[in-house]
Amino acid sequence: MPLIVVVGCQWGDEGKGKIVDLISAEADIVARYQGGNNAGHTIVVGDRKYITHLIPSGILHPERECLIGNGVVVDPLVLLDEIRELEGLGVDNLRPRLHVSENAHLILPFHRLLDKAQERLRGEGKIGTTGRGIGAAYADKVQRQGVRFLDLKNPQSLRAKMEALYEHYRPFFEHIYHEQFPAVEEMIQPVLDVAAELAPLCIDGPSMLNDALEAGKKVLAEGAQGILLDIDFGTYPFVTSSSPSPGGVCCGLGVGPTRISKIVGVIKAYATRVGSGPMPTEFEPVFGDAFRKWANEFGATTGRPRRCGWFDLPAVRRSIQIGDITEIAVTNLDQYDRLDELKICVGYEFEGRRVDIMPIGLEDGQATPIYESMPGWNSSTAGARQYTDLPANARAYLERLEELMGRPIRTVSVGAGRMMTIRRQDQFFEPLAAVAAV
Ligand code: GDP
Ligand code: IMO
Ligand code: MG
Repeated sequence: MPLIVVVGCQWGDEGKGKIVDLISAEADIVARYQGGNNAGHTIVVGDRKYITHLIPSGILHPERECLIGNGVVVDPLVLLDEIRELEGLGVDNLRPRLHVSENAHLILPFHRLLDKAQERLRGEGKIGTTGRGIGAAYADKVQRQGVRFLDLKNPQSLRAKMEALYEHYRPFFEHIYHEQFPAVEEMIQPVLDVAAELAPLCIDGPSMLNDALEAGKKVLAEGAQGILLDIDFGTYPFVTSSSPSPGGVCCGLGVGPTRISKIVGVIKAYATRVGSGPMPTEFEPVFGDAFRKWANEFGATTGRPRRCGWFDLPAVRRSIQIGDITEIAVTNLDQYDRLDELKICVGYEFEGRRVDIMPIGLEDGQATPIYESMPGWNSSTAGARQYTDLPANARAYLERLEELMGRPIRTVSVGAGRMMTIRRQDQFFEPLAAVAAV
């Protein structure tokens, strides 16, 4: 009854979509456990590029069942657009394979407005959210006034719940944000319009998954964002509003912790971050701009430029600790192909001492990175399909990372395409005995 988790170990955009797509070839069910359409997961198959936001990245494999778990916040309008877009791109038999947990909460149109109004109010201290209403929807869930996916089945109560929330938020816009709040019908009718089309996706998610696990099926849990954006363990308050950490799998899907057999941590060969918050190894602006351009580091969801920097080991160590990562997948190794020299941040100077793990509560400018240099390889890795195809210096870099992280790198990605991957193991879903020995 194996359950593999794929989780980002940096600040998101590590290449989870590509790794989930690879593992999906072996899985029966792929389930998203948190986040919402703040995520943008890119999968490149041949000359086609797909970006999933809410729908699990396993959907491209024709036989896979996919679940959007209760831990996800679902914007019904975005979900329908994404379904139609993927159908338009030729993804077969999508609707019968796509399910949404009935207790997943909805992102409603005024959540998006709230997200943006709150950001404006924060001014200089803004988080740099994706503006998708994520935090506002989770806030309503926690305040026990949210609207859930199962409410789409009953238009009358759906209307009543949305109207009540609308009235709750009206004074905020009038008296606090001083912004025009659109008329109630404008806010709720679009949701009522799509309710009947989406309601058939509603399912008892925990039963679907636990029954499948009991029957020996293979389940893949797809994380969004990354552990350093986790509401509890990330660089608060510059975080998202959910739990990308593997701990989020249990409450975001309704499965017990002992079901989890393996946790694949995804890292880029370097570091990126979108939005505000500390990033000790960020490149200085001139090199950073050049790197961003050649590496095409622009957000898959918002198109915003990503901040780029050297590999930040103390940050990744925190993720490995929190996530109890069993193995690592390194992506975007090829983006370093043209460098003569690479740096790895192996620790920080922090409050007058050296630290090896990112301090909880780290603020901008508090940590000075301590770097170790390594020679680059200055040649293309894009054609490598076996580990031994990689240049010696590229292998030395990966092996140094392995040594520093204390975790095996089992997958190396050298390009966006499905095939541009080196696997150092035959299968992701190994027999349980083998997993225990990792
Ligand atoms: P995710 O949010 O973790 O799924 O990552 P994103 O899709 O937001 O960003 C990762 C970007 O890197 C996407 O544009 C991918 O197509 C791309 N990508 C993934 N792996 C590789 C790789 O090994 N090399 C290159 N050049 N691009 C990659
Ligand atoms: P994937 O799944 C990178 C960042 C935003 C912002 C912070 C809070 O593609 O890796 P939110 O809209 O969630 O309230 O924004 O989190 N953020 C991401 N950064 N990748 C993501 O998702 C992200 N989802 C949210 O930029 O800093
Ligand atoms: Mg992304």
